[in-house]
Amino acid sequence: RTFLSLMGAAALTSSMMLTGCGAGSGDDRKIVRIGHVQSQTHPDHLGLEAFANYINEKLGDKYRVEVYPSELLGSQTEMVQLTQTGAIDFVVASTAIMETFSAKYQIFNLPYLFSSVEAYHEAMDDPEVTDPIFKTTSKAGLETVAWLDAGTRNFYTIKTPINQPSDLKGLKIRVQQSPTNVEMMRLLGGTATPMGFGDVYTALQAGILDGAENNELALTDNGHGDICKYYSYDMHQMVPDLLVANYAFLNELSDEERAIFEEGFQIVKHTEQDAWEDAVAEAKDKAENEQHVNFIYPDTAPFQEAMAPLHDSVLAANPELQPIYDLIQQHNAAHTAD
Ligand code: GCU
Repeated sequence: RTFLSLMGAAALTSSMMLTGCGAGSGDDRKIVRIGHVQSQTHPDHLGLEAFANYINEKLGDKYRVEVYPSELLGSQTEMVQLTQTGAIDFVVASTAIMETFSAKYQIFNLPYLFSSVEAYHEAMDDPEVTDPIFKTTSKAGLETVAWLDAGTRNFYTIKTPINQPSDLKGLKIRVQQSPTNVEMMRLLGGTATPMGFGDVYTALQAGILDGAENNELALTDNGHGDICKYYSYDMHQMVPDLLVANYAFLNELSDEERAIFEEGFQIVKHTEQDAWEDAVAEAKDKAENEQHVNFIYPDTAPFQEAMAPLHDSVLAANPELQPIYDLIQQHNAAHTAD
């Protein structure tokens, strides 16, 4: 093994010690561990690195923040569980995975929930929309502290271009492990194949899947565009990613520390969101020119129509979501005149 890989292994082992303290004698700083599934060039990672630098600079005598990318600490579901028990302190999770910890997150997985990017951002920045959801998982040991942009999710396939919902019939499409996403595929006539993000590349390569759905970065960062040559802008979901904290960790911070961490959460959010648009443009350019992915722009109306029943079924099963849903519609309406 190389010196560097030995160093990496040593760093990971020491930081995973149960005490959560620095390895060296006399170093009683708490190590704050953050896990996520993305690469080190992804906007999520850039945001978290900025957060780590900020906390290490402001509170470096007490805390040392370490960011673990690329599913190093496990799949997203596993990392949410680790955050829940306090084995790690933060995770970036999708609203789909959070749905299995609190049904209220289902609202964000509704296809075509937001009518525009502006309405989406404005609604996500409205505490009346997010507080009743982000702050309801404290009993489960979790609290969402910031939302990050994860763009728009679209279908992409190996062989068959998707121009209309009926083109999905009989195709095995990977979705995230969430009941709402499985139901979405059922309504479209495709076969939902739920699996963790890190398993998708191999499953596509092995032909176990005919396609998947995600934002453009999955094509390049995760190599899916090496295999899938058709990316179809049906625009079915605008979904945030969430920075989720261990509830006890947050609440054990002193008021002064908490204020600095809150400042840090804003830094993650703004750094990530500022990097997002360029990251998508770059991914699209690379996918088109280097991976030779064909981008398709179908009429989105038939897709929206096919998935519309999900709004009613999710609201019927979770009536407490209705006022939040109505508020989101107000944000949508405020932007239709734009
Ligand atoms: C996006 C999203 C992740 C999610 C992944 C997935 O990359 O940002 O949070 O895990 O999609 O499809 O699983």
